[in-house]
Amino acid sequence: MYKIVDKKQLASGITALDIEAPLIAEKAMPGQFVVVIADEKSERIPLTIADWDKQEGWIRIIVQEAGFSTKKITNFSKGKNLFGVLGPLGHPSPVRKVGNFIGIGGGVGIAEMFPVARGYKEASNRVLTIIGARDKDTLILEDKLKSVSDELFVATDDGSKGEKGFVTDVLKKILDSHKELNKDNTLIYAVGPVKMMEAVAKLSRDKNIKTLVSLNPIMVDATGMCGACRVVVGGKTRFACVEGPEFDAHEVDFKSLLKRLDQHKNLEHKCKLTEY
Ligand code: FAD
Ligand code: FES
Ligand code: MG
Repeated sequence: MYKIVDKKQLASGITALDIEAPLIAEKAMPGQFVVVIADEKSERIPLTIADWDKQEGWIRIIVQEAGFSTKKITNFSKGKNLFGVLGPLGHPSPVRKVGNFIGIGGGVGIAEMFPVARGYKEASNRVLTIIGARDKDTLILEDKLKSVSDELFVATDDGSKGEKGFVTDVLKKILDSHKELNKDNTLIYAVGPVKMMEAVAKLSRDKNIKTLVSLNPIMVDATGMCGACRVVVGGKTRFACVEGPEFDAHEVDFKSLLKRLDQHKNLEHKCKLTEY
């Protein structure tokens, strides 16, 4: 059993839960995730480890209500126990000194951007972060990202905060105006909606700048056995849970990822919280 020791609503439909999990906190690294099982009847769902404290023994998950299981988890109150939390899973981000790190987080992907950007900052990189959301009410972690960034840029679809437009509009401006950023001194890292990661990959491919994306395929066992999370990278099938979740953006087949993410939509819509 994994006790929820703190709970905060960060934005409309987005909740942070701190979970007592000393063994996971001890080993957690930027870019890794856990599988959460809300109760004995629940499905397994993957969620990024958004923060952790080794001394106090907790990890943070930031959950956007997407459907049945995420709603169930965000309905848990502080003090209640989750049935299972497994991790840390996935390869950690290969944090190192590259010179310039451009981190791009969209929507709830900003949750993963925070520990990754912090890692690159601690590794003495210049960190430029771009975060984007639909509007100011769904934007999360602005202050936390600011605290680990040399420069932070905000974009919202409706212009209610920061620049009106997409994170890729901001990225294009940065790449066009900062001529010092090139393939030898810069790493781009994007996490968020598939279409956003695909657009980032297209932009950075033109500039030949290495880009990593953290992929979010459907996962079931998350231990490399079921094959649910298979993605096509460089023309080869890869299992994101054990070989990712980060991959070279310029090699990812985003079209097949999108298709596989939508494959159970009809059944997911039928699944209502009241059924349990
Ligand atoms: P459903 O109605 O069942 O599904 C809604 C949509 O979510 C589906 O159409 C599908 O595209 C996707 N989905 C459904 N089941 C799964 C599954 N088992 N695994 C992955 N995607 C699924 N979300 C967050 O809010 N915060 C995070 O930090 C976060 N981190 C993630 C890290 C990784 C490595 C991955 C792979 C996914 C992450 N997600 C995160 C996405 C999250 O797992 C899904 O939103 C969640 O599983 C949806 O479950 P549901 O029952 O609420 O919705
Ligand atoms: Fe089963 Fe990756 S989730 S192999
Ligand atoms: Mg579900």
